[in-house]
Amino acid sequence: WPVYAPYVHAINRLKKERNAVILAHNYQTPDIFHCVSDIVGDSLQLARDATKVEAEIIIQCGVHFMAETSKLLNPEKTILIPDSRAGCSLSESITGADVRELKRRYPGVPVVTYVNTSADVKAETDICCTSANAVDVVESLDSDTVLCIPDEYLAMNVARRTNKKILTWAGHCEVHERFTADELLAYREADPTIEIVAHPECHPSVLDVSDYSGSTAGMINYVKTKKPARVLLVTECSMASNIQSEVEGVDFVKPCNLCPHMKRITLPKILDSLLFMTEEVKVDPAIAGPARLAVERMINLKA
Ligand code: 13P
Ligand code: SF4
Repeated sequence: WPVYAPYVHAINRLKKERNAVILAHNYQTPDIFHCVSDIVGDSLQLARDATKVEAEIIIQCGVHFMAETSKLLNPEKTILIPDSRAGCSLSESITGADVRELKRRYPGVPVVTYVNTSADVKAETDICCTSANAVDVVESLDSDTVLCIPDEYLAMNVARRTNKKILTWAGHCEVHERFTADELLAYREADPTIEIVAHPECHPSVLDVSDYSGSTAGMINYVKTKKPARVLLVTECSMASNIQSEVEGVDFVKPCNLCPHMKRITLPKILDSLLFMTEEVKVDPAIAGPARLAVERMINLKA
């Protein structure tokens, strides 16, 4: 804490001076999550809250697609990301040209794109989804077949919860694809009372041995409500650290995996961002319109 304190003070002072707010994803480290953020949440919550921000500047503490989503929803505001190299393996797995090719191959099939994609990809999309609402989004479409891209495992998990035929893409989250059912079963064998809570970016075989699966906010809510004696969060490591202080008596068991992209965001970089107004996120106006529509359709969907 003493090492962080000067950064925390400087960031919180500058935020007021500049009329800026910090939106942080649940995978940010506890110093960012607890000490400088104004709004925290999963991808869906952050997108929804981005539409309500009154401040002129948003500092997005998360990965690039999240900052781009905030920009799409706030074209008139300045959106800064403390490190624009904070990418995402899912976002990098597919391009706008790939989606155009899929649409040529499957004419008339609606395209649902995970929010973990570039604005270029969103611009080719009928409607976005997140891990929190993917099934509802797919169910809302008037078609027996739906393209659900680019996360193959999320699509497989959605396919199990709908009667629609789901077509997908071979994108994976480099963090969640590393978890295996076998390693989780070993934890269960060692302690049969352990609760296993998994993100739907994991392979379906991982969800099969889990007690609950949901978005990062869903996972947090599950732990806060159920307060299990021991829990294994099958996701990014910072999640457990962030909620530990709010659920006394819950023992968080490893393993967890780090997202190297999320971890690019640090307090010194946030301070730089506020001081020098870097790095500003911009979206090509030619794609911003259709990309915004895909995100807004998701936000406006009544679940
Ligand atoms: P959530 O939408 O569940 O917060 O997930 C975002 C993400 O990047 C998970 O890896
Ligand atoms: Fe992308 Fe996976 Fe990192 Fe989430 S955890 S930002 S899906 S690489």
